[in-house]
Amino acid sequence: MGMLDHWHPVLKSGEVRRKPVAVTIAGQPLAVFRTASGGLGAVADACPHRKLKLSAGTVVGDRLRCAYHGWSYDTAGNGESPGTPKMSACTTSFDIREDHGLIWVKTRGSQATFPDVSMPGYLPICTLIHTVPAPLELTVDNFNEIEHSATVHRTFGYDLARMHEVTVRYEPTETTVRVVNAGPSKRFNWLYAWYFGAYPGDLFHDDWTVHFSPIYNVVDHWWTSPDGTRQGMIRWRLYIFFVPVDAATTKVVSITYAHSRYPGPAGALRLVRRQFRKELDAELTADVVLLRHLSSHDTSIEGMKLSRFDKSLGLTRERIRTIYRGESALPLPLATV
Ligand code: FES
Ligand SMILES: [Fe+2]
Repeated sequence: MGMLDHWHPVLKSGEVRRKPVAVTIAGQPLAVFRTASGGLGAVADACPHRKLKLSAGTVVGDRLRCAYHGWSYDTAGNGESPGTPKMSACTTSFDIREDHGLIWVKTRGSQATFPDVSMPGYLPICTLIHTVPAPLELTVDNFNEIEHSATVHRTFGYDLARMHEVTVRYEPTETTVRVVNAGPSKRFNWLYAWYFGAYPGDLFHDDWTVHFSPIYNVVDHWWTSPDGTRQGMIRWRLYIFFVPVDAATTKVVSITYAHSRYPGPAGALRLVRRQFRKELDAELTADVVLLRHLSSHDTSIEGMKLSRFDKSLGLTRERIRTIYRGESALPLPLATV
């Protein structure tokens, strides 16, 4: 399969209202629109006539009408020209669906499986989209090692002074890469310590699995006492999708859930949902800001001095190349978008 053959989350549902919206996935510009009857369409963002962007058009009934000469297209890409009614003027359309508050697209008819992002027993906290000024592989790298958590993050991660105590285990399969880490948590403010039930010296656990159709991490975070006998009060589950826009830009789409052991409906998580959303936004924004400072957008790992935390970089690159990009498993120069 090629990159566009996988289901990608491209927009939040609320971003597509009466006007078409322009998005780009893997260098392919799309016009996403919602028809008057509520159906969704995604078509190549270039009118077959004289190549005006269809995202500059308007939705009229169940069709997207081009702003230039009024040719219009339904959600399957079937075109009509008012001036030449007998002419066939179809455009490329994409499969599209709405799920978990997001709009997802893929190549029409491709065999990709839709990712399961449900989490029974957990409360949805937020869905966020961040735009990272870095290529796909370098963005995925950032979310696949935990060493940076000590310096970049303020809540989720490890104590820099005790980073050497953090254990890391890799469990790759042909189609996934699992990374399991545990070690002394970083200290955070007293309010979080109390609410999370996580105190100085406790262990922070993170356990994630990377999937490659599309590329996404399923991440679990929780805390325990150093001997593992006392569990923290809150557990987190994040689904983090990586959507290449072009060779230098990647969107990170995250769906976050939490589970609480406090009594009451949803373990009182609704009371803190707004604060948790702010916290997650800040943590993800910290990654975005950091990645602005990459000295190179070369995606090869050749020439990097990698640490024991970086074994996942090679494992994920191989699967990105073969499963996501559909390239040969033989060693080839790493392609960019
Ligand atoms: S360019 Fe779209 S109708 Fe002419
Ligand atoms: Fe990070």
